[in-house]
Amino acid sequence: MPDGGGGRPSGPAPGHRADPADPAGDGAAWWRTAVVHQLYPRSFADSDGDGIGDLPGITARLPHLADLGVDGLWLSPFYVSPMADAGYDVADYRAVDPVFGTLADADALIAEAGRLGLRVLVDLVPNHTSDQHAWFRAALAAAPGGPERARYLFRDGRGPGGDSPPNGWRSVFGGPAWTRITEPDGRPGQWYLHLFDAGQPDLDWTNPEVREEFHDILRFWLDRGVAGFRVDVAHGLAKAEGLPAWDHDYAGMSRDDVIGAPMWDQDAVHDVYRGWREVLDTHPGSIMIGEAWVRPAERLARYVAPGGMHQVFHFDLLLAPWRVADYRAAISSSLEAAGAVGAVTTWTLSNHDVVRHTTRLTLPPGRNNPEGIGPRDPQPDEELGLRRGRAATAVVLALPGSTYLYQGEELGLPEHTALPDEVRQDPSFRRREGAVSGRDGCRVPLPWEADAPAFGFSPTGRSWLPQPESFARYAADRQRGVPGSTLELYRSMLRLRRELGLGAGHLEWDDGFGPDALAFRTTGASGRVLVVANLGPDPVALPAGAVVLATGDLDGGRVPTDTTVWVVEG
Ligand code: NOJ
Repeated sequence: MPDGGGGRPSGPAPGHRADPADPAGDGAAWWRTAVVHQLYPRSFADSDGDGIGDLPGITARLPHLADLGVDGLWLSPFYVSPMADAGYDVADYRAVDPVFGTLADADALIAEAGRLGLRVLVDLVPNHTSDQHAWFRAALAAAPGGPERARYLFRDGRGPGGDSPPNGWRSVFGGPAWTRITEPDGRPGQWYLHLFDAGQPDLDWTNPEVREEFHDILRFWLDRGVAGFRVDVAHGLAKAEGLPAWDHDYAGMSRDDVIGAPMWDQDAVHDVYRGWREVLDTHPGSIMIGEAWVRPAERLARYVAPGGMHQVFHFDLLLAPWRVADYRAAISSSLEAAGAVGAVTTWTLSNHDVVRHTTRLTLPPGRNNPEGIGPRDPQPDEELGLRRGRAATAVVLALPGSTYLYQGEELGLPEHTALPDEVRQDPSFRRREGAVSGRDGCRVPLPWEADAPAFGFSPTGRSWLPQPESFARYAADRQRGVPGSTLELYRSMLRLRRELGLGAGHLEWDDGFGPDALAFRTTGASGRVLVVANLGPDPVALPAGAVVLATGDLDGGRVPTDTTVWVVEG
């Protein structure tokens, strides 16, 4: 329902049942059970034929999302950017990059989404700007020690002539986290910190000017009608005082290895979000969701404690291998930790940074989260992946809380695992000198029509990353209205989830289906639903009750391997 200003839905979405987690019906708590669809603008739909997706392309395809039955969408960055990291290097937070369109196109997208009952979240990138941002350019032009440099983390180097970086911190993408500048007088100068690419200098969040600027950016987008923000690298903004030594390379590290590191999950970061919450509270119903790769679950829960963020991704489940014990542990610990602070869980299985779950779930435990897959790696079993992917999504969509989907997963798209090196664009591939394949394989443009150029992604057939031939069989037009297709399965799951009130349910494990079954009951607003997922090699007994959903064909009254059922009990 457009609010007249920019199209922000102000109440329950039209055509949707009242949210069971929102008995007041004013829509303010819509997010507690919401399913949000992530859009990666470069790869969603290209309207002008340059081979790169854009905002008008998205607007034209919004009916696909309304028809799917999601509550909202999150747009990865579309702001002015030199694209050193596909737009996660922002040069102007209040303007649209010409490759994606104009600010008027963003307004039109938000208004049309509102008309269709879809809320819009935008991506906010506060840890770093682009090196082409006006602030950073001013910092380079100014003398050391001045206010222009104080917005970033400039430091003198160590050793004779300051030739060594200020400390041994490493970039997440590989190589040192410091780059040396040339001073305006031509001499080798100070160093600046970048936890990611050299084109992404870190801001200094102890500086009040930085804080004020971001309050203003929040207001800018809220006033245009967005329903909130996905906060990039939410656990990175505050650094330990004095930038103490930490000399580890991230290659091959687990998230537990970075617990206590001086650049991640510092307590001071919560102060930033308390300030943002005050801004958001002036726009009821608006939210922020943090991308915080933080462990353990109790530390992560601090981000969603009262007065902080509304949501934070519970990545433990995304990282879990396809095994009952791992799934159960990830789900339980996330539910407990969020519950302890009165928050809801927010699940996701895929996004633009990880191998698509249809592919990932075929990989062996311990090696199930590679930084991309390339043509020289063993090639995954696509059919197995699709079966597991569908079964896993049916687990997640039955869980209490909110879920974020990633574009293309509703088509069952696999990762592109054979992209040649020369087309790869992810900076981590370059900075790690090819030691990892990087994230391009999950960012390949979507197939809309099997028989059209670029599978309907672009009218000219251009595509910034090549699409594999196999995408033809996943094209949306091959699946729409076809019983048993992944697209129709997702539509059914979303409809049933809403009808049965699953997101608002309370979970109880059921051990009665043997060690290879992940089984739980969820008691929602509309009664009890039993979910049984068979992760083992042998069929599992089908429970009594009405089977309202099955992710595969049931085998003579049993649940086959890699299949999930939802059963409404009498
Ligand atoms: C997380 C984003 O999701 C990722 O794509 C990006 O490279 C880093 N943050 C740096 O902004």
